Amino acid sequence: MINITNNLWENIVVTGGAGFIGSNLVLELQRRFPKSHIDVVDDFRSGDFANLEDFRGDVQAFDVSRIDMADLFYNRPPTVMFHLASITDTTVTDDKLMLHDNVEGFRGILDYCIENNVPLVYASSAATYGIGEGRMSEDNTPAPANVYAFSKTILDNVARKAMKDIPEQHIVGLKFFNVYGPREGHKKIASSMIYHLSRMMKEGKRPRIFAPGDQKRDFVYVRDVVDAIIAALGAEESGIYNVGSGRARSFNELCAILNDVLGIDLAPEYFECPYPFYQPFTEADLTRAKAALGYEPKYSLEDGVADYMKFLYG
Ligand SMILES: NC(=O)c1ccc[n+]([C@@H]2O[C@H](COP(=O)([O-])OP(=O)(O)OC[C@H]3O[C@@H](n4cnc5c(N)ncnc54)[C@H](O)[C@@H]3O)[C@@H](O)[C@H]2O)c1
Repeated sequence: MINITNNLWENIVVTGGAGFIGSNLVLELQRRFPKSHIDVVDDFRSGDFANLEDFRGDVQAFDVSRIDMADLFYNRPPTVMFHLASITDTTVTDDKLMLHDNVEGFRGILDYCIENNVPLVYASSAATYGIGEGRMSEDNTPAPANVYAFSKTILDNVARKAMKDIPEQHIVGLKFFNVYGPREGHKKIASSMIYHLSRMMKEGKRPRIFAPGDQKRDFVYVRDVVDAIIAALGAEESGIYNVGSGRARSFNELCAILNDVLGIDLAPEYFECPYPFYQPFTEADLTRAKAALGYEPKYSLEDGVADYMKFLYG
């Protein structure tokens, strides 16, 4: 386990820091560690500068898959690295682009961290579990159903090998489930269903969901995800851990919660799912994350949606 000292937090780098989870992380780090230097590295292909309105650190607009890390960090070497940069739109079908940018971006960061003994936390995804039934545990055999999920599976393979070969290096991968919350609107089609459904409902339209609406997802609030990312530095040992709410909830339930929180009453309108790779059920087994990271999600779906709707609509 690494010792969390003030020095560890001196120069924090967050790749993908202009994105949804990255910007929430950056702002929370800034709040918790006001004396730290925080650098965001983001090429803004999906991120939005507006997410960083309250940020007082530095931004480097580079593609991490196409730059030498030693050049990037020559000025101020990181003391800790959070790697969230990734193509995140799961409907992107350019295999070479997805694999090159996601995997090579990660490889460059990982190699740099190993060479310079920088603790690394990186974003994996529950998408690697694919289409299955039952709770998803880190031991499940990966079953990526699209190239995005495949790219994250390769990240995990590369990371696992490094964990085995260099056990003294701190590497933690986090498999996020369906994250929702403030600062995700820039993701457009890739924003959470909670964001999209709430927008429809605020406009007086019925929430459109895939029939029959009983498909279940593990929706996790971004504030819990940020806590898990920061806690990952205190992990006893390197590893890959699930980060979800630990409870699958249906889209029908979600519509009922949104109606309740928004004070309206709009019945769902159902349509057929066009995606062959759609995950009908996700639920995180949190046993390991609880034991290794002390991760305990604080927000039920009801509480998270209520907090989020206040952010979106006041
Ligand atoms: N949001 C979710 O539900 C979810 C679920 C599972 C995993 N994840 C993972 O969490 C991380 C953050 O996702 P997010 O939801 O905040 O998405 P996002 O699209 O909002 O953020 C990703 C950021 O990375 C930047 N980026 C992409 N490729 C880059 C590159 N090569 N170099 C530099 N910057 C680059 C984008 O501009 C963007 O700002 C990603 O790694 C994603 O795969 C997210």
